[in-house]
Amino acid sequence: MGIEVNGLSRIFHDAKRGEFYAVNNVSFSCKPGEVFGLLGPNGAGKTTTLQMISTLVKPTAGSIKVNGYDSVKDPLAVRKQIGFTSSDTGLYERLTAREILTYFGRLHKFPESELAGRIDALAQKLNMTDFIDTRSHKLSTGMKQKVSLARAMVHDPPILILDEPTSGLDVITSQTVHEIVQELRNQGKCIVFSTHIMNEAEKLCDRIGIIYDGILHAIGPLEELQGLTGQKNLEEIFLNVVQGKASAER
Ligand SMILES: Nc1ncnc2c1ncn2[C@@H]1O[C@H](COP(=O)(O)OP(=O)(O)O)[C@@H](O)[C@H]1O
Ligand SMILES: [Mg+2]
Repeated sequence: MGIEVNGLSRIFHDAKRGEFYAVNNVSFSCKPGEVFGLLGPNGAGKTTTLQMISTLVKPTAGSIKVNGYDSVKDPLAVRKQIGFTSSDTGLYERLTAREILTYFGRLHKFPESELAGRIDALAQKLNMTDFIDTRSHKLSTGMKQKVSLARAMVHDPPILILDEPTSGLDVITSQTVHEIVQELRNQGKCIVFSTHIMNEAEKLCDRIGIIYDGILHAIGPLEELQGLTGQKNLEEIFLNVVQGKASAER
């Protein structure tokens, strides 16, 4: 159960670079009750990896199993297992948060009799009660991000794929998101989380994968990465891992 990614690659083309690997032979797993963090700077390949797991982007090579279902062969079954959120997920501008959550809950066949209560509880938890009935085009970035997170959670999926869920959020709202991630983990959810923020990865993730230039350079719990590099803090570990590999490849 959980997520198993094996040898995952994705080639993109653009005018400047021609064909290039946005994601290059990435393998990792995440179990129920675990938070796995993909840590890497902009352009590292985090979003592409998470979109492939979520069936939104097709892999060039490799395999992905989500609770036993294959993301390429059985995308509909995979979508039932996951909640996905990304900072650039569009919301329906003319709907209110409550309408969006109701729509998604029904789409995922969440029991109708429990749906309104579920949405109220999520609104409480995410401090959304003040704007739950405001049309989403009037919401701030942070508010929209909360709606997007609530949308990923509304059908209570066993697996959550959170693509930089705190990017652009203030400290207090980020803190709320961190608490929710910890709570979801305690409920036994499998959570794959991406971030470029070192202390966020350090704080939340049971295991961290350091991704740079499409390559997963190191993977393990913080203590293991510390042992591997002889460095204490994640920033030093990150630089050590990425630059060490770069010079070894030359
Ligand atoms: N649809 C696309 N077409 C071409 N290149 C893309 C596309 N999507 C992403 N890329 C490129 O792939 C690389 C990885 O991007 P991305 O997965 O978004 O990284 P991250 O989320 O870590 O910032 C970047 O170089 C990005 O410019
Ligand atoms: Mg990204």
